[in-house]
Amino acid sequence: MRQSHAAFAAPESASIPLHVVGSEGLTAWLDTQPERVRTWLDAVGFTAKTGQTVCVPDAAGGLALAVFGLGDAQARIRGRMALGAARGKLPRGIYHLASGFEDDELPEQLLGWLLAGYRFDRFRHRTGGDADIPALKAPPRAEARRIEVLAAAEWLTRDLINTPASQMGPEELETSVLALADEFDAQVSVTYGDDLLHENLPLIHAVGRASDRIPRLLDLRWGHEGPRITLVGKGVCFDTGGLNIKPGASMGLMKKDMGGAATVIGLAMMIMALDWKVRLRVLIPAVENSISGSAMRPGDILTARNGLTVEVNNTDAEGRLVLADALALADEENPDALICMATLTGAARVALGPDLPPFYTDDEDLALALSDGAMVEADPLWRLPFHAPYEPLIEPGIADLDNAPSGGMAGSITAALFLRRFVQKTRRFAHFDIYGWQPSAMPGRPKGGQGQGARAVLWALPEVLGPDIENRE
Ligand code: BES
Ligand code: ZN
Ligand code: ZN
Repeated sequence: MRQSHAAFAAPESASIPLHVVGSEGLTAWLDTQPERVRTWLDAVGFTAKTGQTVCVPDAAGGLALAVFGLGDAQARIRGRMALGAARGKLPRGIYHLASGFEDDELPEQLLGWLLAGYRFDRFRHRTGGDADIPALKAPPRAEARRIEVLAAAEWLTRDLINTPASQMGPEELETSVLALADEFDAQVSVTYGDDLLHENLPLIHAVGRASDRIPRLLDLRWGHEGPRITLVGKGVCFDTGGLNIKPGASMGLMKKDMGGAATVIGLAMMIMALDWKVRLRVLIPAVENSISGSAMRPGDILTARNGLTVEVNNTDAEGRLVLADALALADEENPDALICMATLTGAARVALGPDLPPFYTDDEDLALALSDGAMVEADPLWRLPFHAPYEPLIEPGIADLDNAPSGGMAGSITAALFLRRFVQKTRRFAHFDIYGWQPSAMPGRPKGGQGQGARAVLWALPEVLGPDIENRE
């Protein structure tokens, strides 16, 4: 039912024309319109400024057409998915795009429309009323199905992040992965609690063992032929900081610390729904970074899966610990592409803000493809370097690695360098230090959980692994 807002209206439905007009094109567009429309738009003061939405009545008092303003060229560079704003302003009904976008602008705008239908109202008794959300017929020339898949996957990601930690612990995250696996005939194996020690995943155990909610590693596999794509996502269902407890203000949003897991789950859904010819694997260490007598302590030295020893100088730098084991496991198979997504550092947000996650890779082709994909898919990313001269910062002396360098310099880079120590064989490795949260509403992006980077990766992978992976025929 809710998912219907992530789909377009049936092509045969009767629909109201929706014209999208930029301020520079307003005069020319008005010239194409009948006198009645021009008079009305003049009367209500339509100037095509960004987000301005006007309904024009017909002679009988019905709705003849709607007009949506895009603003000037500058406003269009600043914003993205502008059409998303129209969905929140138009009256209910089914619309079709009568004028406005070039073909190459359509996918982003149509996705914006679908994403603007997202609501997280599971916990609200009085909702805005779903029936009031307007619908759009996809233009015949648009890749409607692909856009619907992207939207449905992003909805899943948002739902997973928005669900409070009380209802999205390691077990519920597992249930969500099992449900997705069921839908696409994927296989999942799970390693729980003390078995993490027997299976040589000691860092996942160390981070998760203080919680009553048993830590686990989720391992999903799908597809039987083609290149190996492995996705690893940080699944810290709540991050108290551990014994180095976070102050209240920093802990408030930490239900989103499984945002990396939520994003790779969404990305996996896209790959499976689009039926890519690949061997997909998704690894999610699902834990809660909690406090109890069995919590890991500052100063403890842990031995990771690959044998490296790590001094835990801050129990709040837990993400890199759980990812270390998961990445080492992923790397053993030497996949053709290894993608890691994590809400890993506050430093990434300080450097680039909440809307522009940094990514790290040593593979120049992958870097280029990701930067291109970020533009094409309106999924902003910015490359930061694995700056080798900072390697000494993650070497404490009494162990091989330090999980929390003192000094607080280049925190996102040092975290990335730490992760890279666990990837030895895989050539195409990229790590994304995402924020996973939209702090205030923008078109297509309500405040709350937010997938970042998944669409850019989806665009980039066929560039580096070959276009054949996209076609099963
Ligand atoms: N989950 C946090 C990172 C985070 C904080 C992401 C705020 C997004 C917003 C992570 O586990 C963490 O606490 N990292 C520490 C590392 C430090 C102790 C080296 C950080 O970034 O402060
Ligand atoms: Zn932390
Ligand atoms: Zn964390």
